[in-house]
Amino acid sequence: MSAERFEKKETIDLRKKYIGPSCKIFFSHDPIKIVGAKGQYMYDEKGQHYLDCINNVAHGKHTCTSVYTQSTLKESSQNSNSIFLFSVGHCHPDVVKAGRLQATLPDKLAVCYFVNSGSEANDLALRLARQYTGHKDIITLENAYHGHVSSLIDISPYKFHQLSDTEQNQFVHVASSPDVYRGKHRADHPDPASAYADEVKDIINKAHKKGGKIAAFIAESLQSCGGQVIPPVGYFQQVAQHVREAGGVFIADEVQVGFGRVGSHFWAFQLQGEDFVPDIVTMGKPIGNGHPMSCVVTTKEVAEAFMSSGMEYFNTFGGNPVSCAIGLAVLDVIEKEDLQGNALRVGQYLTSLLEKQKEKHLLIGDIRGRGLFVGVELVRDRLKLTPATAEAQEVIYRLKEQHILLSADGPHRNVLKFKPPMCFTTEDAELVVEKIDVILTELEEALDLKLNNTLAVENESNKRKVSLTLLIIKKYFFNESVHDFAVTGFHFDFISLQFLREAAD
Ligand SMILES: Cc1ncc(COP(=O)(O)O)c(C=O)c1O
Repeated sequence: MSAERFEKKETIDLRKKYIGPSCKIFFSHDPIKIVGAKGQYMYDEKGQHYLDCINNVAHGKHTCTSVYTQSTLKESSQNSNSIFLFSVGHCHPDVVKAGRLQATLPDKLAVCYFVNSGSEANDLALRLARQYTGHKDIITLENAYHGHVSSLIDISPYKFHQLSDTEQNQFVHVASSPDVYRGKHRADHPDPASAYADEVKDIINKAHKKGGKIAAFIAESLQSCGGQVIPPVGYFQQVAQHVREAGGVFIADEVQVGFGRVGSHFWAFQLQGEDFVPDIVTMGKPIGNGHPMSCVVTTKEVAEAFMSSGMEYFNTFGGNPVSCAIGLAVLDVIEKEDLQGNALRVGQYLTSLLEKQKEKHLLIGDIRGRGLFVGVELVRDRLKLTPATAEAQEVIYRLKEQHILLSADGPHRNVLKFKPPMCFTTEDAELVVEKIDVILTELEEALDLKLNNTLAVENESNKRKVSLTLLIIKKYFFNESVHDFAVTGFHFDFISLQFLREAAD
């Protein structure tokens, strides 16, 4: 039964009938039916192509064949689990893959466990940390997301902020996001790295007073769902020192940001400096370019402590030859096509284009990024940093109409996030920035001119106009939904600014 045989509507109906309703779908009121993909493009059932600015899973490039056929066909006949030693030709893909991955990491990170998803990797990382330290408490960051299994919902404020205090896990402590744009300590602070790290120390002290003991601090090396946050350099070193003094370990989640995406380094934690090495690193999404696999890498000491529990680690699909061969092919493509270099060059170019837009558009509050991991934070007021949430939704909705896929995230859903396949080009960057320029120009005209003009006049009919405009903004921007708009798992109240313009007229 091939998916292409169904009309889009039938696919939607079947999805509604058979798939759990909480499974998220992008642009839920008018989802895109993707039937193919190549490079940085995806194709719908009508053959229209979409420039993909957000898919960091199809890391190297979208591919249905090239990466996989290189590697999988010959191995698939031998696919099985990791309790057997499989030889393909003269190599064992799991150990070769482990060796190749290790070569990209500091020497201390020497032991690999292959698993099947980012969630599995982070769950195993928590087990390793707790077994090694004998402690239970975990410190996580505000707005963090680390995966969908129970143990990770517990440490993902991005998800659990919807729960009441009593439903939250008492072993979990939340530290402020080290966001120097909107966070507690901003770029004008003399030493934001120490200020944020000191807060982690306070959390440790408070936990100790209540009898808690810290097993681990976990953070994405750059926060993604949390709003493309780049922690100040030196923050991780200081946090690691506080956490290790308390007997805990540092877990760096590289599920979104690893594998050369940041351009200057292969791993995003390396942006903090050579003197910083986490105790555990977790990997996922790009590791298999869409094929489900992931990995946890740790030190010999942590791995030996895990072994000493006497409990063997068994994982049916983890480290199977097909997945590892695919993982090896992904590493080959990254290397041969210099995708890390491309991320650096194109990422810098994209950031410079966006910086110019910031000079032009008041709606742009901040541009931040490394390589092909870039955030554009939209604000209605650059001093108050009022999040421009509806405007961000308008941008991504209007881009979708023009066949460009971008998303908005962060706690206020006002950060446009770029994390495209790593083959993204300078032409792609120019195209998307050009379109954003037009949309922001129109948005600013609609908001400023309409509001300022109406606010400036004093007669009665115009006063009514003012109240109507403000009422519409209040009603639709903050309370009621016009379109149910799903973006990275959240449903937004969304109003087309076109509608606002028409209503205000
Ligand atoms: C930072 C981070 N860690 C872990 C995960 C979980 O990965 P998976 O969905 O493969 O289980 C995600 C998924 O979005 C993620 O963004």
